Amino acid sequence: MQNSIILVGLMGAGKSTIGRQLARRLNLTFYDSDRVIEERTGVSIPTIFELEGEAGFREREEQVIAELTALPDILLATGGGSVLRETNRQHLKTGGCVIYLRASADQLFQRIKHDRSRPLMQTENPLQTLRNLLKTREPYYLEVADLVVPTGKQKVNVILREIHNKL
Ligand code: S3P
Repeated sequence: MQNSIILVGLMGAGKSTIGRQLARRLNLTFYDSDRVIEERTGVSIPTIFELEGEAGFREREEQVIAELTALPDILLATGGGSVLRETNRQHLKTGGCVIYLRASADQLFQRIKHDRSRPLMQTENPLQTLRNLLKTREPYYLEVADLVVPTGKQKVNVILREIHNKL
């Protein structure tokens, strides 16, 4: 809604890091859909996946995305898989200015390879998993995006300036 900014992109693209700082600069209230789900359930994302499977997590995610995208003046960092559902994509498109933080699978892998908090990365070959996810999801990120910003090599400050200039 009014003045809100929504960040989409794969795990490791920098949605939370950039989102927090951009929110401060633009005086918007920062929300991270994963953190909202964790606050409401009282457990971590990996635990939700363990107890309810990915399907259960996606149900919770849809509910939270619908609520948050209705709020004015927020900066919303979304979970990387939120674009998978058509309902979510509609909510994201009408919820504010959507920015796709884009990076290659190799760049994303370098950032998240030691992070255990992402259930979808607990595979034999996480780099290949990231490549597959990117292939499936990139069309959706591009579909919902008003702006595409590369986050592969740049420092956070450079990315922030670039977004600021483009808004
Ligand atoms: C997911 C990304 C995660 C989190 C969950 C599923 C995905 O969020 O929502 O582990 O499907 O890509 P981040 O993109 O913030 O890591």
